[in-house]
Amino acid sequence: MNFSEYLQVVRAAAMEKSHDELRNALQVVVLTVIVMSVGAWLHKVVWIPLKMRRIMAKQGVGMTPFRILFGNIRESVAYAAKFPEDCHVDGYYESTPTVYPQHALYFPLHGSRFVYEWGSETRLAVRDPEFTREVLSTKQAYFRKPEFHRKFMGEVVGQKCIAIVEDPPTHQSHRRKLNPFFYPDALKAMVDGMVEGAASGIQRLDEKVSQGGGVADFDVLPDLYCASNQILTRTMLSSDVERGRQLYKCQTQLVEILYGSLSKLSFWIPGYRFFPTKDNREIASLKSEMRNLLTEIIGARTKAFGDGNEGGYGDDILGQMLMIASTAPQGTTKGAPFNLESVVDNTQMFYMAGQDTVAVVVAFAMLMLARHPEWQDRAQKEVNEVLASGKAIDVNGLNRLKIVGMVINETLRLFSSLPRIPKVAVQDVQVRDLFIPKGLTVEVAVQSMHLDPALWGEDVHKFNPERFANGPASASTHPQAFLPFSAGLHYCLGTNYAMNEMKIMLAMMLQRFQILVSPHYKHRPYFAFVQRPKYGMRLILKRV
Ligand SMILES: *[C@@H]1O[C@H](CO)[C@@H](O)[C@H](O)[C@H]1NC(C)=O
Repeated sequence: MNFSEYLQVVRAAAMEKSHDELRNALQVVVLTVIVMSVGAWLHKVVWIPLKMRRIMAKQGVGMTPFRILFGNIRESVAYAAKFPEDCHVDGYYESTPTVYPQHALYFPLHGSRFVYEWGSETRLAVRDPEFTREVLSTKQAYFRKPEFHRKFMGEVVGQKCIAIVEDPPTHQSHRRKLNPFFYPDALKAMVDGMVEGAASGIQRLDEKVSQGGGVADFDVLPDLYCASNQILTRTMLSSDVERGRQLYKCQTQLVEILYGSLSKLSFWIPGYRFFPTKDNREIASLKSEMRNLLTEIIGARTKAFGDGNEGGYGDDILGQMLMIASTAPQGTTKGAPFNLESVVDNTQMFYMAGQDTVAVVVAFAMLMLARHPEWQDRAQKEVNEVLASGKAIDVNGLNRLKIVGMVINETLRLFSSLPRIPKVAVQDVQVRDLFIPKGLTVEVAVQSMHLDPALWGEDVHKFNPERFANGPASASTHPQAFLPFSAGLHYCLGTNYAMNEMKIMLAMMLQRFQILVSPHYKHRPYFAFVQRPKYGMRLILKRV
């Protein structure tokens, strides 16, 4: 072997060695990464929950059994499954077991608060209004929406809408921009659009009643959805009726798939949302369809009005939002700018929030009126007095519909659209007698609070609108025990819009029909974005 050959051999050996070393080093790195991420994951799903549980247990708060990863989902799903698919309604309305089973299962065991695991998120559920008032109002700066909740809701309504955007300067500046849409004068201008929109849904009900020769037994919910969709389309998008309908169809499907997946255990596996499963593919395609529709709606609008048009982009809600986005000084105000993306996402949110909630509450109110003819008579009488000789509703009329308002609020109490409001502590904070560590989610148990006999009296499970005769503040023993629209800084922007909408729909219904119980109605309220009846709302409508 000559020298150069020798050198080659040595070099080859060295290369091999360095390859080996490289391989070893790589193995060490990979192993370290795995160990570290498993460690981080265990830290998140075991260490932190256990730590927070210890802190809360020490303060005497009731505890549910700890379950890694899936939390108490399995128990609560099993609990809800114990209730029949038709939970007969007989003057006793407690929908929590099927709507938010965790609360129905654990409040009776632990009193006014307890700790449980929602997936791997540790939550303190509370139904004490004094405590929740601090969380939502005086101490709200210490709380945000939990990340999971924000992401999940954001899938339906868009991440940049007012319900999701939370950093305080952005939230406040966007809210200030959107608020004027719901000022009394603005709402006044929408009444005609609302009446027209409602009329198109009611006309469909009317046709079915006519086909039945003046009386018909059918599911009214689809036509109520149609009415609230038309109301929203008219006040928000003016005339883009067809696209409005399509948008709503996509949203409904998306909600169904997303919420259906929540009760499957596979959903709680980390990263599951990114597997190309059938559900996930469908979610992605619905979301892109919604994006396209919204882009088209907005594109049509900007084209119709366009540059240099003095009148702006139209005077419905979409037009006003576009105006704000095009004129707001971008980047100079505090927080993120209100831009085109904000318009898209807020449109999506108003669309979602404004239809399902309203249609479903009206449906439940009709069910209650059917089961309580004495209240139906009173409401009908009021409507006929206020709207003498079948005339259409105007603002003055709306304000005089007091009994109808009481009926709606009592319905909202028994079947609150949002059964709970979760808020995660972003700093350690003392709320009344409890130390809340950073990272713990406080869950305001709205529905359970609405059904607490300590607050509402022994007839708490009965439908009794009389309790609202002097308004919500004196309906129970605590002025803030009625929270259908949340409270504090995040109080629902559209409260009065929604109240008007519901009053108009109910009043127009009562003007035309007598509502009766149908033997085919199956009572099974459940939760998918809002509380709703699983099998629709079968009722008998009889022309008056
Ligand atoms: C019903 O509740 C809404 C929202 O809290 C309130 O504005 C309205 O005054 C209430 N009406 C009655 C009759 O209680």
